[in-house]
Amino acid sequence: MSIVEEKKAYISSLIKIDNVSNIEIQESLIPPPDPELGDFALPCFKFAKLLKTSPVKIAENIVSSITDDHTMFDKIVAINGYVNFKFNIRASANRVLSEIVTQKSTYANSSEGMGRTICIDYSSINIAKLMHIGHLSTTVIGGALYRIYKKLGYNPIGINHLGDWGTQFGKLIVAFKLWGNIEKLTNDGVSALTEIYVKFHAESETKPELLDMARAAFKRLEDGDPESVQLFELFKKITLDEVNKVYDRLHVHFDSYNGEAFYNDKMDVVINELDSLNLTEISDGAKIVDLSKYDMPPCLLVRSDGATLYATRDLAAAYYRKRTYDFYKCIYVVAYQQNLHFKQLFKVLELAGKTWAKDMIHVPFGMVSLEEGAMSTRRGNVILLMDVLSKAVEKSAEIMTVKNPALKDKMEIAEKIGVGAITFFALNNNRIKDIVFSYDKALSFDGETGPYIQYTNVRALSILRNLGVSDDYFSIPFTDDELAGLDNKESAILLSLLEKMPDILTQVIEKFEPSILSRYIIDVAKAFNRFYLENRIMNAETNYRRARATLTYATHIILEEGLRLLGIDAPTEM
Ligand code: ARG
Repeated sequence: MSIVEEKKAYISSLIKIDNVSNIEIQESLIPPPDPELGDFALPCFKFAKLLKTSPVKIAENIVSSITDDHTMFDKIVAINGYVNFKFNIRASANRVLSEIVTQKSTYANSSEGMGRTICIDYSSINIAKLMHIGHLSTTVIGGALYRIYKKLGYNPIGINHLGDWGTQFGKLIVAFKLWGNIEKLTNDGVSALTEIYVKFHAESETKPELLDMARAAFKRLEDGDPESVQLFELFKKITLDEVNKVYDRLHVHFDSYNGEAFYNDKMDVVINELDSLNLTEISDGAKIVDLSKYDMPPCLLVRSDGATLYATRDLAAAYYRKRTYDFYKCIYVVAYQQNLHFKQLFKVLELAGKTWAKDMIHVPFGMVSLEEGAMSTRRGNVILLMDVLSKAVEKSAEIMTVKNPALKDKMEIAEKIGVGAITFFALNNNRIKDIVFSYDKALSFDGETGPYIQYTNVRALSILRNLGVSDDYFSIPFTDDELAGLDNKESAILLSLLEKMPDILTQVIEKFEPSILSRYIIDVAKAFNRFYLENRIMNAETNYRRARATLTYATHIILEEGLRLLGIDAPTEM
């Protein structure tokens, strides 16, 4: 049980309401709008009907009935139909601080996910295409969920469901044979592929025979013709070499790169099964699953020319993942434009009697666009993710030159700040909202940004460095005299935030929403800065110093681990 849950359980044990269970009381406890009011509030409105009494009266009755001797609480008060509970620092500081400083980065680890595998399909790029700003959200949201699942004891499987199948690869092969050369490809990478692909389209306007050649080339690829396969493998390698550089910078990795091509020989079984269940029918020569009963267009499985589709391969992939990983959940972090695709996919699985269809989850997200005037990095029609990262790093280096000219390893630190700023910006948003990206906003040191958190962490570290103490300085418990150093508003708010981390992580995976964690560490950073502003640490009264330094150390641990979970480095200096 986390500290927060224990506190809730304790509160509910003190309250007796006729015909209302302890569990229900416990689950009704919410954080009050203003942390100064207390740590927990019990809204009494929902009991009014049952008790035939006004919420205001109920709240007052509860307060007067509580016989706790107030060793645990600073105050318990009834306000406007709420009962607010404020725990006293002495009762909880030793507990939470000792948990954090002894467990360090493993604080908030749990085993709740033991034995449960979670497939996470994210990033899932297309071969021979450049990775652009539209890939940012899926990549960093997937990466964050992956690390958080792992921290909670699950077994996450990161899957990059490569878009490596389709007639466009026939076009590329033809274009490469006509205009490409290995040297240019090796030097320019994916851009060289895009270039010849664009040329193919322009030329095929006047030379439609090119399209026939492309179809034939794709057919040869499908049939395993060695030369075509070799060329395709080269395109794939070039693409992966390039995207892996981006993944490294973003600290994202995958356990599997099984993409669409991998399912080429795994679709027949699925289609046969759907046939035998009488789910399929032929419509205009194509094989479909009719979904009109569910207010959806049909799910197209095989085109009239015999070609399979994106959905067919996703069906085969779903079967394969269930069989191979026996997942507890299979998550798809894919833009909301594909809402319908996933609704259809999950419906077909359900109709096929797969009980696990309910464990398939589409985690959609909104679009990222760059604000007006920030388009200088456009290449062709896309804003490359690599360019965005590099530009953010460049700007961070400029900022560091002004802010801290003496800084050693400036470029190394600028990489952490710049890339971290981009990641944080993409994560610190309700997933489903469209976002307009701005370098200045993302890199601001005093907004709700990655650099702000990194900077706050560096501040905490420098306080600790100046104290020049070793780990055993933070040994706990503190005496009451020492704890008096934390008996102030700012410390109380910070402490009550620190103890919430385990519950925050649970919320993130319940809602597939990493922004719950990003906002949380923003709150921690803000609370720490207020604490630091109002309370001396170095020059504190001697008996206060140790407790305050420990709170600083605990904050550093939470910030660093919070950043790591989001995929962001925490520089030790900046
Ligand atoms: N490659 C696809 C695209 O770029 C995304 C694939 C998402 N994953 C999946 N299993 N459908 O749109």
